[in-house]
Amino acid sequence: MKSVAKNANDERDAKVFALYEQLVEIEQRLIPTGLHVFGRASSAGEKIDLLKMIASFDRPEAGVRALPEDLVDEAVREFVSAGTDAAVRFLEQKGLIPAETRPVFVLLETVSTKLQTNNELDSLVRALRGEFIEPGPGADIIQNPDILPTGRNTHAINPYGVPSAAAFTRSEAVANSLLSRYKHENGRYPEAMALVLWGLDNIKTQGEGVAQALWLLGTRPVRDALNRTTNVEAIPLAQLGRPRIDVVMTVSGIFRDLFSPTVQLLDKAVRLVAQLDEPLESNYVRKHVLQQVEHDACDLDDAAVRVFSNAPGNYGTNVNFMVMDSQWEREETLGDLFVTRKCFAYGRDSKGLAIEGREARVAMDRALARVEATYQNIDTFEIGLTDVDHYFEYLGGVSKAVEKRAKARPAIYLSDSLSRDVKIRTLEETVRLETRAKTLNPKWYEGMLKHGFRGVAEIENHVSNTFGWSATADAVDDWIYSEVANTFLFDESMLERLRDLNPHSAHSLVQRLLEANGRGYWDVEDSVLEKLRDISRSLEDQLEGVA
Ligand code: BEZ
Ligand code: MG
Repeated sequence: MKSVAKNANDERDAKVFALYEQLVEIEQRLIPTGLHVFGRASSAGEKIDLLKMIASFDRPEAGVRALPEDLVDEAVREFVSAGTDAAVRFLEQKGLIPAETRPVFVLLETVSTKLQTNNELDSLVRALRGEFIEPGPGADIIQNPDILPTGRNTHAINPYGVPSAAAFTRSEAVANSLLSRYKHENGRYPEAMALVLWGLDNIKTQGEGVAQALWLLGTRPVRDALNRTTNVEAIPLAQLGRPRIDVVMTVSGIFRDLFSPTVQLLDKAVRLVAQLDEPLESNYVRKHVLQQVEHDACDLDDAAVRVFSNAPGNYGTNVNFMVMDSQWEREETLGDLFVTRKCFAYGRDSKGLAIEGREARVAMDRALARVEATYQNIDTFEIGLTDVDHYFEYLGGVSKAVEKRAKARPAIYLSDSLSRDVKIRTLEETVRLETRAKTLNPKWYEGMLKHGFRGVAEIENHVSNTFGWSATADAVDDWIYSEVANTFLFDESMLERLRDLNPHSAHSLVQRLLEANGRGYWDVEDSVLEKLRDISRSLEDQLEGVA
């Protein structure tokens, strides 16, 4: 009896603890509370949030140690209200050594000053006059505070420096966590994965996504005499301690254009691994390439194509447009469109001939048919899964394409390389977290509503982007749509505000919810649908009256 009670208590405690962890996770997430207004410096509240995040990361290159998690909030508030000395003293009272905490506040002082200046309007006017605009790095503010002040001419990156040594080192833990999460859930490693690589993300992180792909393949970058990353070498299996994963990479058009040497590097890595004389159970690239050579009677060159993008000069998947316009009947059309747009191969064959956007639909179909997990690295606090339609057009699009070709839905993961410790989440977990931290969070939507018309459009966008995850990956729980309806439409005063500010977006929001139900993504009582239809009709009357 006693042990049953103890088990029940343990179980209860574990559940309460898991709930606590989830609440803390949502609470600690930095959310943008409003849109950036061109030319306007950040408000005091925004400044504190940013400084807290900046102070939460070790920056060995600047001799800065992160502040302890439980003190960062109070310490930064002390810093903002009373300055560096006061903040250092506050931490000293908590037992921290001043010489160790001072550097972080020196950094915060610089950031704080730069946040107060905003040269955006001035720079724009000078640019329009054809004057020189100082260059500045393009990055995420948390990852690289040197992006401040804004209003400079963003320069990108030297593609030959990618991945940087730091990005490569950091990415080992991400690749390992990703594989161990899959293994934990499936009892073995995935034989093949599909990765999405974007240009801007790899600029910001100096190639984290690229480095993760190299790790999965079990390779490392090699620099030439000019310190350019032009080659790769295999990490020995004994050192790797796991099989080499077959990696199918879909790179954006921007990545293809900016990172041409990197595209070559990734292709080279796949071809190198395919030719290693290793047991097939430890080298899934070789296993699959040999299978394909035998099965399709094709040559090794064709069977080893793994880097895909748009046709030269083309960008995007159009999956987002098809979803937004409701112009589709069957989900598989979305995956097929993804492949149609992205089935152009890049790299170099064994004779040294460049493959520059050769249409390779069959090769892509074959490669995707083996994929068991899809993945994208998330590296910014500012833009997440439901903020833009690009995540679902890419990661959703490729996952839907895999589902048809592999005849099974892949496991879908995202990393959060921003947290203090690397986090790998499933798509479903990430959609829930984003929904709680943003769409349904009063701090977020009130911040948006301050922007009036545009703010309502942003709320509607978030709901549509969430819907995109239903369409491409069936990754949205019913409660999410129900809570969207409760928060924005069934609360009368909120509905009034939306109606006043932007009846067009309010109407689109209702229509999107009805579409979610119509397509089978939201199971809800008829009475709720009736209420939605009433609201829709009254918004239509209002819009006709306006017209
Ligand atoms: C990119 O940086 O590659 C990218 C940016 C926006 C949408 C898709 C891709
Ligand atoms: Mg469902």
